[in-house]
Amino acid sequence: MKNFLVIGNPIEHSFSPKLHNHWIKKNNIKATYKKLEANLDDLKNIIDDVREERLDGVNVTVPFKNEIIKHLDELSEESRKSLSVNTIYKVNNKVVGHNTDITGFELAIRYTKYDIQNREILILGAGGVVSSIIIALQNLKVSKIRLMNRTAEKAKKLKERFSEIEILNWGESCKFDMAINATSLGLNKVDNINLNYEETGEEKFFYDVIYNPIETEFLKKAKKNFHRTENGKMMFIYQAHLSFTLWHKVMPEINDEVINLISK
Ligand code: ATR
Repeated sequence: MKNFLVIGNPIEHSFSPKLHNHWIKKNNIKATYKKLEANLDDLKNIIDDVREERLDGVNVTVPFKNEIIKHLDELSEESRKSLSVNTIYKVNNKVVGHNTDITGFELAIRYTKYDIQNREILILGAGGVVSSIIIALQNLKVSKIRLMNRTAEKAKKLKERFSEIEILNWGESCKFDMAINATSLGLNKVDNINLNYEETGEEKFFYDVIYNPIETEFLKKAKKNFHRTENGKMMFIYQAHLSFTLWHKVMPEINDEVINLISK
């Protein structure tokens, strides 16, 4: 029996166990996938469990995607570029950190069939997942990335690593074709983002990394103003799919049953 884990804090709302255990069962794999609410002090022991093969793989979520790096032996190119790890495994006696959020986001955008090349993108937020989104957008050849964050210092830090992005003040209006909410605003139903939806022009694309709730205020308001909207469910499914394939060497199916699992 192989053992897998997702760690984060908070973790109770994570859909990862539901999705991974569904695919484990469908593919007759002998494995368990559990969730663990971890603290900073636990990270070293969790990686030791991978090193000593008590654990076969770990998914990492907010707020440890960066903090976990110092405990690992090796990083994939994607993790090095993004300074973010969401998938851990052991290979050739080394505990390796990988990032499947970058490709997960790219595939999710391709899934929407939105013609993103040469578009101008506005990112709201500067948290753990944003470096992955920036790299994915660059791979997708967007023409401009603008970013704003409540705490200006964190946006400035990203600008030091990705010099070509433009930083705006939180709440400042600007031109964009696609706006991405990468803040945690919207996890609570009452959260609101101060964007002027009427003045953004017509037929913009509003993407929210959040998938639970299915429709945040950010997306609801955009829809009301006749913009296109999409939540983060396919990004979540694709990043999980990439982890699963890496660990089990089996490509699980993404079908309506799987998509419905995440929409509840
Ligand atoms: P972390 O910052 O630890 O990586 P995250 O969930 O990945 O955590 O990121 C949270 C994001 O949501 C940040 O961009 C955060 O802004 P700050 O950097 O200013 O904290 C943003 N966020 C959370 N609550 C917010 C609020 N009430 N208003 C605006 N932005 C908020």
